[in-house]
Amino acid sequence: MCGIVGAVAERNVTAILLEGLKRLEYRGYDSAGVALFSNAGVLERRRRVGKVNELEQSLAGEPLVGRLGIAHTRWATHGAPLEHNAHPHFSSGELAVVHNGIIENHEPLRDRLKSLGYLFTSDTDTEVIVHLLHHKMQDTPDLTAALKATVKELHGAYGLAVISAKQPDRLVAARSGSPLVVGLGLGENFLASDQLALRQVTDRFMYLEEGDIAEIRRDSVQIWTAAGVSVEREIVQYREGAEAADKGEFRHFMLKEIHEQPKVVQRTLENRLGPEQVLVQAFGPQAAELFAKVRNVQIVACGTSYHAGMVARYWLEGLAGIPCQVEVASEFRYRKVVVQPDTLFVSISQSGETADTLAALRNAKELGFLASLAICNVSISSLVRESDLTLLTQAGPEIGVASTKAFTTQLVALMLLTLSLGQVKGTLAAGVEAELVEELRRLPTRLGEALAMDSTVEKVAELFAEKNHTLFLGRGAQFPVAMEGALKLKEISYIHAEAYPAGELKHGPLALVDSDMPVVTVAPNNELLEKLKSNLQEVRARGGELIVFADEQAGLNNGEGTHVISMPHIIDALAPILYTVPLQLLSYYVAVLKGTDVDQPRNLAKSVTVE
Ligand code: F6R
Repeated sequence: MCGIVGAVAERNVTAILLEGLKRLEYRGYDSAGVALFSNAGVLERRRRVGKVNELEQSLAGEPLVGRLGIAHTRWATHGAPLEHNAHPHFSSGELAVVHNGIIENHEPLRDRLKSLGYLFTSDTDTEVIVHLLHHKMQDTPDLTAALKATVKELHGAYGLAVISAKQPDRLVAARSGSPLVVGLGLGENFLASDQLALRQVTDRFMYLEEGDIAEIRRDSVQIWTAAGVSVEREIVQYREGAEAADKGEFRHFMLKEIHEQPKVVQRTLENRLGPEQVLVQAFGPQAAELFAKVRNVQIVACGTSYHAGMVARYWLEGLAGIPCQVEVASEFRYRKVVVQPDTLFVSISQSGETADTLAALRNAKELGFLASLAICNVSISSLVRESDLTLLTQAGPEIGVASTKAFTTQLVALMLLTLSLGQVKGTLAAGVEAELVEELRRLPTRLGEALAMDSTVEKVAELFAEKNHTLFLGRGAQFPVAMEGALKLKEISYIHAEAYPAGELKHGPLALVDSDMPVVTVAPNNELLEKLKSNLQEVRARGGELIVFADEQAGLNNGEGTHVISMPHIIDALAPILYTVPLQLLSYYVAVLKGTDVDQPRNLAKSVTVE
């Protein structure tokens, strides 16, 4: 989603801002812009629709030079992706703003500001901020003080940064619902919506908290809370992320991240397994006491993370005997929810900044859940900060918009949760935990074996290049895996894909099946295999082409219209993790064949910080 970079230095900051924008490209955007307080003593800006490259080329031809600047990548919400809607937005040539989030009361503010004589040049909600600030500065000339007064009138979500031609000694910023981080340099300071944007200039960061206002000068940073109290925020040395910066030998970040899965699954397991048991304290010192009280689990998440939650329901109920509900956050947050006594609220998120998931967590706190647990990939995220317990997935930064290694590490974390709850409550069948702990230790090797199928899957992808629709089938815990496979295919190859529990086929979707609709199935060797085989016959009988990822012991063979890809045998409980891998590879290779922008698919954003 939108990205912000800002800098105040004694050197020209254009290159720093551009590099920062490039590092934020993975989040998804449709236009980019930069504004500088130029050496000529005025605000100047350049905006371009499309990639940061276009902006860079324009700046190479006609440079902007300055020591104070802000820059932005925009993901359109209010107003089409056109140059006049791209940030930064100006007021009276004196102020420039960049903004992430949505100002919900932009309409009344716009009417008021228009009646005061302000001229609007964009269709965005953002432009009201800069005119309102300009208006406030007529009575409160100090930029920082005027910003404090301005944000009091804004409803909605914002992470924003402002520079002024009249007070070019500083960059001011405000956070409410959209993350911002200050980067600390030597005699220069920076701001960004994600620390990754600033990794080339610093590794020392200060994370703004909800409601914070910051005044960032070359040699000082001052922060106030929403109540106007001056505060110091902790300085964090951030070393993660360096390895994420380049693709290495891989053509795309997505492929690199798929191949990182053995390593990051290993990391997610590290220090969390005893000889025959999961170490419950991995969830926090008070986890064992809390888990003993848990009688139900409510999982809330979005997109891929929601699919991880769906798999976990099969585990929590099937292995640990704990009732579990799973819901997408955007529904949960607006529904009247009846909470069962002693329910653990579990949120799952790669970024920890997804607006709907965060809002659901905040609602949950009012609803009387026993406690909240965040399964998250970002240790400094809002979700982690606001939850009682945390289990970090150790996937490392995920740059490809389509989530891959985040999903498999979430599944690992959820299996650790299942075993921990079952262990503390004594609900696991004898021997199950020891067996699964051993199998979890072998999982990185198994994932490596699945990755070795890379070139086989690449070949299978050719079957999809000319197709417009695909059906994914799975049964039991493989149904959410099928859903995840369908989501991956649609988001990066733009082929319409739907997932069904295989048993539902004859209740409707079978009508769609013909030779133009490939049907992808995941078939581990479990008690549902025979049922699944019958479903596959139903597809073949209608001329549908089958692509089956099947256990080597499943007894399924290649035949006319049936392509069987043999998978290494794995204990059934962990099969969802293993079978995800070839589906990720499949969507990747189909997308490559179709020539789409694999790492930054159209219309999508990496971290969905608006609802
Ligand atoms: C799909 C994908 C999205 C995210 C969803 C939630 O590949 O990445 O569906 O899973 O936007 O994001 P997080 O996990 O950051 O809350």
